[in-house]
This record gives sequence, C-alpha cells and structure tokens, in this order.
Amino acid sequence: MNAHDGSKAPDSDRTASLLINNVQVKMPVRSGSIGPDVIDVGRLYRESGCFTYDPGFTSTANCSSKITYIDGEEGILLYRGYPIEQLAKSSNFLEVCYLLLNGELPTETQYKEFDGHITRHTMVHEQMTRFFTGFRRDAHPMAVMCGVVGALSSFYHDSTDIHDLKHRVIASHRMVAKMPTIAAMAFKYSIGQPFIYPRNDLEFASNFLQMCFAVPCEPYEVDPVVAKALDRIMILHADHEQNASTSTVRLAGSSGANPFACIAAGIACLWGPAHGGANEAALKMLEEIGHVRNIPEFIKRVKDKNEGVRLMGFGHRVYKNYDPRAKVMQETCHEVLGKLGIKDDLLDVAMELERIALHDDYFIEKKLYPNVDFYSGIVLRAIGFPVSMFTPLFAVSRTVGWIAQWKEMIEDPEQKIGRPRQLYVKRG
Ligand code: ACO
Repeated sequence: MNAHDGSKAPDSDRTASLLINNVQVKMPVRSGSIGPDVIDVGRLYRESGCFTYDPGFTSTANCSSKITYIDGEEGILLYRGYPIEQLAKSSNFLEVCYLLLNGELPTETQYKEFDGHITRHTMVHEQMTRFFTGFRRDAHPMAVMCGVVGALSSFYHDSTDIHDLKHRVIASHRMVAKMPTIAAMAFKYSIGQPFIYPRNDLEFASNFLQMCFAVPCEPYEVDPVVAKALDRIMILHADHEQNASTSTVRLAGSSGANPFACIAAGIACLWGPAHGGANEAALKMLEEIGHVRNIPEFIKRVKDKNEGVRLMGFGHRVYKNYDPRAKVMQETCHEVLGKLGIKDDLLDVAMELERIALHDDYFIEKKLYPNVDFYSGIVLRAIGFPVSMFTPLFAVSRTVGWIAQWKEMIEDPEQKIGRPRQLYVKRG
C-alpha cells in the first residue's frame, strides 16, 4: 500500500499584507505538505486592532495536523497519507486505529501487541452497569452515551493526567476499546435485554455485533459478510480532519479537560442532524419519499427555498465532489443486500434520487453530491440496527479519530486554549 508523501516545500518566507486603517500588516504564509496555504493571522489583532470574522470557520485552519487530509474539490481522503479506498479494501478497522494513533500501519508484531492492549480494556467497570438503569428505557442511545462516556473519568482516574504520556496512551486504548461496549449496552438497555459482555476472541466488528445481537439463551454466530461490512463502515468513519465534533473535542481538550470528558463533548456534537445524525435523517427522508414515483415532487420541494427541505445525505462543507467514502459505501450497500438476499425498496429510491440529483442543474451548480451518510443507513438497517443506533455506531467508529486528534493537540507545542472572539452588536 502506498502513502501519499506530499509534494510541497515546507514553510516559505512569503508574506501576505493587509492594508487596514492605514496600517500595513504583514502576515506569514505557511505551507502544508499538500493543500491550500494558510495565512497566519495570529498577530493581526495586536498589529491592527482587528479580528478576523469567519462564522462556521469556512476559511479558517484551527491547527496543523499530520492525521487526515481531505481535498474536497477532488474528492480525496487520506489517513496518514493512505487513500481511504485502499484502507477500506486492504486493512481492518483495528489496523486503521493503529495507523491513526501512531502514524504508520502496524507490522504483524505491532498489530498483535495493539490488539492485546485494546482487548484488555473492552470491559467497563461493573459498577457502570448501574448508570444505565438511571436512564429511561426510551432514551435515545446517544443521550445515554453522552452521560456514560462523561462518567468514565470518575472510574479511570489512573489515565486522566494529560501531561503523562503513559496516561494519554492508556486513555486512548480505553476509549477505543470501551466505546463499542458502551454503545452496545445502551442498545441492549433500550430494548430491555441483558447486557452481553465483550468476547476478546472475536475481531473488533464481530465483537460489537455479538454484544448487540447475542442473547444469553442461545448461541450467536457472527455473519462474516455483516462483520466485514461493519468493519468497513467503521474505517470510513474513523476520522475526518477538523469536522464539528473533532473540533469540539479539541476545543474541550484545549482547556486541559480529561480525555473522557472531551470525547463526551464530541458525542454531543456528533448527535446533531447536520453532522452524525445525517444518516438517520437520510433514511427517514427515503422512507418519507417511499417510492421512486414520488421523487420528482420531492426534488421540487428541495429546490423551493420556502419549503426548507434539504436532500439529506447530500452536500458537504468540504466535499464539492463525490465523497470518496460514499462510493465505497454504495458498493458495500449492494454487497450486503445482495449477499443477505434482501430486497429493499429504499435502495431503489436512493439510487434513482442520486441519478436524478447528479443530472439536475440545481445540484450541479451548488456542487451537491452524495455524502457518506446517503447509503450507510440502508446498510445498517439491513444488518439489523434500528435507526436510533446509527449515530452511536458513528461515535464508535469516530472515537479513534477524536482521541488521535486530542492526543496530537496535547503534544503540539503551539497548543493554546481555544478562545474565539466575536463581533459585538448592540441590541435594538
Ligand atoms: N439539499 C439541498 N440544498 C442544499 C443541501 C442539501 N442537502 N446542502 C446545501 N444546499 C444548498 C443550500 O440551500 C445553499 O443554497 P444557497 O446558496 O442557494 O443558499 C447552498 O447549497 C450552500 O449550503 P450551505 O448550508 O451554506 O452549505 P454548508 O457547506 O454550510 O453545508 C451541510 C453543508 C450542512 C452538510 C449541508 O450540505 C446539508 O445540510 N446537507 C444535508 C445534511 C447532511 O447530509 N449532513 C451530513 C454531512 S456528512 C457528515 O457529517 C458525516
């Protein structure tokens, strides 16, 4: 497998200048390995008395990072230099976790050792099981996860010293290992079934499936097709540069908060329908449309600004081209439905919707393409997950990205507490 090694020269001595209030401010221009240059505005306020204004951070780089690279115009996603398509085809999720956390794919020995570290931490403190009973049975599993993950710091004090590398590494392993257990417990609680303990003889995705779908009264066999599909879904969602939930984790962590609290903040952010809740929203939308004959009417509503209807699973803040993850997800969708012999009318609706949208001027002009969530709901439903578990599954997959980014931030000598400024506007 080949990693992209970057082709640009390091920082140059180029500067950008800004004439503001008759003062000329010169700002350094910094170059990354690939991707757009950045103008370092760190001294702008001191030298000009002005802030930059960028709601939604559409033109703002908040950090430098070695973890993930996205070229939204070209539809490229790299984890530590490796294209997502290659990783989805040739690696498993745990290898990708190692890659994100350590910077390179593991050797066989490194993999075995890492697998051992992760499986050692898959159980949660037995007392944590009592937390679940404090929630209503009909609580959304994401609500439960926000609470339970936040509570981890009260159980694992021995890995909350963020200045100690050993603590940071153990906290990272704990997060990756325990998140599937917590998500599965939230699911089991919501359907009134007993919790199923992790099985360390199973691979990561298979273990998660058995914790979700096994019951104590009969044997459970993991379907390898389903396990492979879930593993791939987790790879596709493992990291995505400085997205909203990752930036939330970084911002929470910038104050020195412990990693468990930071990940709980990330889960809260991920829950929103514009972010991790989108696959749930996309599936609901497909159900609402119901049949291919209803698509033209739906598209008409999407184009009418007064209706306030969006084509869920379409569009992305960064991708202005086909999301490379969506391509893999579409293939996975056909594979799973085909191998499980499931005929899902919603897949027909999704494919026709995609075909129409990709040829429609409205979507072409706005560069709106399917994103990773357009097909993932159909796959997850075919596997047997209820809609309420879609976002928790995303959280399970993204945890490694969050923790890798958190760790990178703590170890970054440029790191400061995140403290944006504002444009104050008087009421009235
Ligand atoms: N359907 C219809 N029109 C859309 C859509 C959509 N899904 N997305 C954007 N547009 C239109 C907007 O109406 C706007 O039109 P205008 O310029 O005429 O006002 C234009 O495209 C730009 O939209 P913004 O909201 O400014 O784009 P932004 O980059 O901020 O939004 C977002 C990105 C939030 C993902 C948006 O495309 C969206 O809401 N998509 C649907 C939700 C979704 O699928 N989210 C998942 C993201 S992937 C992930 O989190 C894993």
